[in-house]
Amino acid sequence: MKYKTQKVAYWFFAVCMLLFSLQIIYGFIMGFARIGMDNLHEIIPFNAARATHTNLLVMWLLAGFMGSAYYIVPEETESEIPSIKLAYLQLIALVLVGVTSIIGFHFNWWEGRKFLEIPRPLDFLVVVDVLLFIYLIGMTIWKSPKKTTTAMVLFFGLLCAALLYLPGMIPTDNQTVDSYFRWWVVHLWVEGVWELIMGAILSYLLIKLTGVDREVIEKWLYVIVGFTFLSGILGTGHHYYYIGTPKYWLMIGGVFSALEPLAFLGMAVYAIAMMRKGGKPQDNKTAMAWTLGCSVMSFVGAGFLGFAHTLPQVNMWTHGTLVTAMHGHLAFWGAYAMLILGIITYAMPILTGRKLQDSKLNSFAFWSSNIGMIAMTVAFAIAGIAQVYLERKIGMDFLAVQKEIEVHFVGLILAACLFSAGIFAFVWNFIKFGMPIKNN
Ligand code: HEM
Ligand code: HEM
Ligand SMILES: [Fe+2]
Repeated sequence: MKYKTQKVAYWFFAVCMLLFSLQIIYGFIMGFARIGMDNLHEIIPFNAARATHTNLLVMWLLAGFMGSAYYIVPEETESEIPSIKLAYLQLIALVLVGVTSIIGFHFNWWEGRKFLEIPRPLDFLVVVDVLLFIYLIGMTIWKSPKKTTTAMVLFFGLLCAALLYLPGMIPTDNQTVDSYFRWWVVHLWVEGVWELIMGAILSYLLIKLTGVDREVIEKWLYVIVGFTFLSGILGTGHHYYYIGTPKYWLMIGGVFSALEPLAFLGMAVYAIAMMRKGGKPQDNKTAMAWTLGCSVMSFVGAGFLGFAHTLPQVNMWTHGTLVTAMHGHLAFWGAYAMLILGIITYAMPILTGRKLQDSKLNSFAFWSSNIGMIAMTVAFAIAGIAQVYLERKIGMDFLAVQKEIEVHFVGLILAACLFSAGIFAFVWNFIKFGMPIKNN
């Protein structure tokens, strides 16, 4: 590695591996609970498992974004992070807050707002931690005379993600107001500023892996930023259809969110075009597979499956069912999980000096996890469609329907085994890479 402070990225990536593995365990706890094997219920009831599963996801993705920034920004700006000690402190603080929240969920200390379950006092600590992170990355860019588009888009995405955490902390007793602002965090993260972070990391990977000129790659990045803002901001309206907000959201949300897949389509076309222009990389084909895979699977999971339930006429039937879980899994996997696994695959040989990236184990990790996740998505889809039909068209009782669709969760568990085998292989390969290079 060129800059010694890049090493801190390794520890962020190691935390990703740990939290991701834990997330999967909680996925299985829920999967088994869904087929009646809910033996852990007294200690880990479904709601605690669900909050833990999704919060671990968000936490490891954030750790992944932070690690990526610590890795990418020194190289893009040709300078070091101002204090590596503060960067380590920031990681430790993040992990401590995360662990405290997860333990809290098991003792019913949580806020009960999907994805924003972290108890309020801990929210403030998250804010302080993220401010420190933004300061470290911001100062690196600020002090350097070299400011690339990739680094600026990455920084802007991270800064906006930090600012958008705040609306989720507005105190209110009103359910509609609470839900309204919750979406400023949840939606404007995954369908707004995280897309900027994704575009920037994709750009970086494509520049490094394809060898195509930076000017060409970064021009595309502007187009993606444009599409994202054009559709994603007012697209928030697809969550305002039936929560007590004015009727005009039906139209605004429908029209603008229907345009959102364009940004993801743009990213897929962009990655494929750059790969064709530059040719396959010589020494890290697996990182290229994750990069291309990310651009394509995010289009399928977020763009295509998002579109499938975004129009108000459809959403009035599917809202809050397993159709949402179907989309949530493939979208998060394709766009953000694959992205982080891609940058880890790219960075590990450079951070550790060992060339294990194109191993059979890593290739198995890629295919098994992807095929497994597609199969999981299908299982959720079938369960979700059956649920909508039985519960909302026929009018069967909620719990009776849950019993009826139990069998699809057997399919989910089988698919999840394939998926987990792939992730286990990835983590194993990560461990085999060993520690980062010393004295560098
Ligand atoms: C990578 C990007 C995306 C991710 C990670 C993602 C993930 C999710 C998740 C986790 C939920 C459930 C949220 C909750 O109920 O709290 C959700 C809901 C939803 N998403 Fe996405 N999504 C993405 C992009 C999109 C796009 C591009 C569209 C539209 C074209 C879309 C349409 C929807 C709709 C309509 C809902 C509401 C479902 C309901 O009413 O229950 N999503 N998404
Ligand atoms: C072993 C693998 C996994 C299993 C068995 C699993 C299972 C589940 C189950 C049963 C739920 C609750 C659905 C419900 O409300 O009944 C859930 C929720 C969720 N999982 Fe997973 N999961 C796994 C891996 C993942 C991965 C890798 C991701 C992200 C990349 C993910 C993202 C989510 C999200 C976003 C939700 C919330 C969905 C919503 O808002 O409706 N899961 N998972
Ligand atoms: Fe949304």
